[in-house]
Amino acid sequence: MKRIGRVVKELNEGWIFFDYDVGDVSSLDTARDGRRVVLPHMVKTFPLSNFDDKDYQKITWYRKEVSLPSSYAGKRIFLEFDGVMLVATVYVNGKKVGEHKGGFTPFRFDITDKVGFGQRNTIAVKVDSRERPDVPPFGGTVDYLTFGGIYREVRLIITDTLYIEDIFPFCVDVLSPHRRLVCNYVIRNEMGKSRSFNIRFSLKDWEGLSLAEVMTDKIALEGNATLHSSIELTDLASVRLWDIEEPWLYKVELSIFENERCIDSVEKSFGFREARFAEDGGFYLNGRRIKLIGLNRHQNYPYIGPAAPRRLQYRDADILKYELGLNIVRCSHYPQSPHFLDRCDQIGLLVFEELPGWQYIGDEEWKRTSLNELREMIIRDRHHPSIILWGVRINESRDDDEFYRKTNALAHELDPTRQTGGVRNFRESHFLEDVFTYNDFSGKIQPPNHIPYMVTEFGGHTFPTKSFDLSQRQVEHALLHTRIQDEQLGRSDIAGAIGWCSFDYNTHVDFGSGDRICYHGVCDIFRMPKFAAMFYKSQIPVEKRVVLELADLWAFGDWNHGIEQLVIFSNCDYIDVIIGGRELKGLKARSDLFRNLRYPPFIVEMHQFWGGKWKDLTVVGYVNGKEVKRLYYPMDRRPVRLCAWCDDEQILADNRDMTWLRFAMVDSAGNIAAYARDIVWIEPKNKLVEIIGENPFALIASRGAVFLRAKKKKGTEDIELRTNRGHKASVSIKLI
Ligand code: GAL
Repeated sequence: MKRIGRVVKELNEGWIFFDYDVGDVSSLDTARDGRRVVLPHMVKTFPLSNFDDKDYQKITWYRKEVSLPSSYAGKRIFLEFDGVMLVATVYVNGKKVGEHKGGFTPFRFDITDKVGFGQRNTIAVKVDSRERPDVPPFGGTVDYLTFGGIYREVRLIITDTLYIEDIFPFCVDVLSPHRRLVCNYVIRNEMGKSRSFNIRFSLKDWEGLSLAEVMTDKIALEGNATLHSSIELTDLASVRLWDIEEPWLYKVELSIFENERCIDSVEKSFGFREARFAEDGGFYLNGRRIKLIGLNRHQNYPYIGPAAPRRLQYRDADILKYELGLNIVRCSHYPQSPHFLDRCDQIGLLVFEELPGWQYIGDEEWKRTSLNELREMIIRDRHHPSIILWGVRINESRDDDEFYRKTNALAHELDPTRQTGGVRNFRESHFLEDVFTYNDFSGKIQPPNHIPYMVTEFGGHTFPTKSFDLSQRQVEHALLHTRIQDEQLGRSDIAGAIGWCSFDYNTHVDFGSGDRICYHGVCDIFRMPKFAAMFYKSQIPVEKRVVLELADLWAFGDWNHGIEQLVIFSNCDYIDVIIGGRELKGLKARSDLFRNLRYPPFIVEMHQFWGGKWKDLTVVGYVNGKEVKRLYYPMDRRPVRLCAWCDDEQILADNRDMTWLRFAMVDSAGNIAAYARDIVWIEPKNKLVEIIGENPFALIASRGAVFLRAKKKKGTEDIELRTNRGHKASVSIKLI
């Protein structure tokens, strides 16, 4: 059958950015002071800390020329934005096509009537990145920065006048061999006359091979009308379920056929799974009870705010799943990048996604915008198997039963398959959702009262901790996470606990340490681990990866009154500890103190070693009686060498791709040193990449990171790093 289908044209390059309010759209034609940018884009790159958020709170403009060939005449042309912070007004050829409020959700305008074919067309976007009190999350104060700009991707979608507006695939009776895959769809006929067509719905494997399909009889749709209907596939006994261990993904495709020709087609990824928070307090995935262990994530990165391309989004999900061993992430406090969610689907990381907001509820207009954002979030994301719960309450807001009845009803209407939660911080708040999701900063786990219950924040501001804090503080921080997770694991009436938070983040002056950073992460803002990250990591099953990590800087005098306990996070069966010549053999983990953890930490009572001089430390980990890992910390931990590495061996030479370049001063044994504060200069020798970040960089906790952003040329880039004390390192990366 002949396929004509829709055309999707990504519009991420060739934008001209005007760093100020040009006034009105006609002034853009004569404005000469724009500069070329690519998307994702932020209105300004920032240093790591101590910047003024007012610098992005302004109105800016973007312009782009797009040619539409004459062959598109008669088609429908849509302009789609994945995210513009905070309010976007869009013009095509000088005419306004619409405005969108809210920076976290996608929107699309039909621009057919505004474009010309066989000619160039000008798209202009006025971006208002001010913290407008009429748009969530604003109106009060907010403990994070939203930044500004067209910070996610943009595309043109060119369709027939008969086209698919949306599809929503979901599975009924997932756990039965008689499961049914249903696809709700919306089809629009923009032609002045009736059209008749068939609809085909297919289930395909990840490679695109069709596994099952169904074709309807002829359907007639009147001119200028919309069809809301559904179609389903049955006999799907042999499909594999999506799970956190084996995140089996499929694709579903809905197509319209007219006279044997496929005139439109939409595809989405999909996974078969049943996710349920039950009355007994437990969470069940495909009928199997799973304890949820997770952390919150903000979408922002250092220097670039939220304007991170796919690779960085994937990397964050990978860090949470593989490096920290989590099974759930809460997208606090707004819908995050589609790339991030795609990756969560691919790797089996569960997601709690919520509508934008923070402690504040505005007037009726504000609430309308909020409901609209909720709608846009659910429509965008309801096909993701990783998402197991919709957050329909403004994080930590007061009760507003009327508003929250609406948010709950809307979520259930748009997606009858998922439960709702609403994150609250007072226990007596009215429970209108399906799951009582609670930010519990009491420092303990409290009994829930026979309702579906999940802790959605703990730690955070009750124990801010920097990567450059003393060992003692960092250990206490790590043990706080250890203790709370241990406690929740011991209770059968709690689904899980999601700590605050995964990564340090930039914030307003009212929060954090005054330097525009909130140091609440178990990792720093570069996603490099603090000691608390070691705890999460140590819960990874030893069959997957051996973990043996010292939660100490091994620096004499870094504790009040000297070190009393040495904490080691590990999934080994037992460890030996050797300090100087003295040995402590066969040390067991503290399952007496942490009764519910699979791998409790090891705690070395240091008085056993007192009396001698500060010496070298060796820790040996054993599994099944065999040595599997060894740590060695010399007594003299002076930084002697600079190390540098990239998170990727290669990136795309597409002008947009980015990866992390990390560096650290290490001691003679290769451990990251304690408090090196050298200055590092970074130089790409072949100029194939751009450095995004502080350069030179003054090390923080002996380490640092910047981004490498690809230019357009392929080849190998050699990056040289040197310090003020003459240390050198180099790293190579391929651009393909
Ligand atoms: C919570 C809030 C989070 C973060 C956290 C810090 O109250 O929901 O966004 O500010 O406190 O501990």
